[in-house]
Amino acid sequence: MKSLVNAVLGNTPIIKLDTLFNNKNVYAKLEYYNPTFSIKDRAAFNMVKQAWDNGKLKKGDTIIEATSGNTGLGLCFAASVYELHLICTVFSDVPIEKINLLKAFGAIVIICDSKYPSSGEKGYVGVAKRIAEKYENVYYVDQFNNNNNVMAHYYSTGPEIWNQMNADIDYLFATIGTGGTISGIGKYLKEKNPSVKIIGVEPVGGIYKSHFNKEDEHYMDHLIQSISDDFISGNFKQEYVDEVVQVEDQHSFSMCYEAMRKEGIMIGTSSGCVLSAAREYDIPAEKKALCIIPDLGLKYMDTLFNDQYLSENNIIVEDCPKRKQIADDLRDFCFAKDLDCQVC
Ligand SMILES: Cc1ncc(COP(=O)(O)O)c(C=O)c1O
Repeated sequence: MKSLVNAVLGNTPIIKLDTLFNNKNVYAKLEYYNPTFSIKDRAAFNMVKQAWDNGKLKKGDTIIEATSGNTGLGLCFAASVYELHLICTVFSDVPIEKINLLKAFGAIVIICDSKYPSSGEKGYVGVAKRIAEKYENVYYVDQFNNNNNVMAHYYSTGPEIWNQMNADIDYLFATIGTGGTISGIGKYLKEKNPSVKIIGVEPVGGIYKSHFNKEDEHYMDHLIQSISDDFISGNFKQEYVDEVVQVEDQHSFSMCYEAMRKEGIMIGTSSGCVLSAAREYDIPAEKKALCIIPDLGLKYMDTLFNDQYLSENNIIVEDCPKRKQIADDLRDFCFAKDLDCQVC
């Protein structure tokens, strides 16, 4: 079991984004190289492992978690390693691919209406808590307050980054969902070198920027899944963060397409958000910045890569002019020759 986990969990690659950031030193840590294709595999596995090691879980037990998908998927992996059952509460805006993946990996999924506040009695977090309170034998993982979420990144992601960057890093850009990623990596990097700048990233509408700046907190809906919910997570440790910046949804979405075209990486929307933030930030040419890429674009075929979803949400992604021209020519050719096929 240990060798399986060591072989597939963590140790993800870092690449330099030479085309997207041509005269800057901007790197990306590709966290979709984890067993269920996201950074949350690390946190999910560590939260289960610690509960197991501390005697809170045993084979055949049931765990429950409120998730926007990725933590649930990571828990599916952990549940299979430790032979547990898993219940996930999600909200109805979670992409259908993630819900189907959760079911395929064996989780029982409870879909709560997105219109309810997350922590209210009908919200996805509130429902998970109520079930855990009612059923004494169901263990609530609680990624928003469980310190082993933060520690997963303190003990694994942080040291990996330090070694892979040869102890030479000036900025870290990471999105804020539960805050586990930024807090754990931030704590580790600050201990190694207090002058590393830790930049939190969220969409316009998120509440972390105002919270961080001690202004009135005001949440507005946005399109970036899994980050900046309508409450401040207990695992956001702002003492390890230097600044929180915001990105327009439009820029995050366009960036996903640009990253695919220019760097060949197929990333999810929170990754687009973090790369846009790095591009909009004034990073001096001689400094090194690392962006955390949380997950894979394949999980967003019904949103990010769905023309109808994009137009309903007024997101414009520019097609590559050359590609468009080739496709138009082929369409004309196929029509003229009556080949009875579709060019898309
Ligand atoms: C796609 C994606 N991006 C970013 C995050 C944020 O990570 P964290 O919860 O560690 O802040 C999450 C968390 O679920 C996620 O699923």
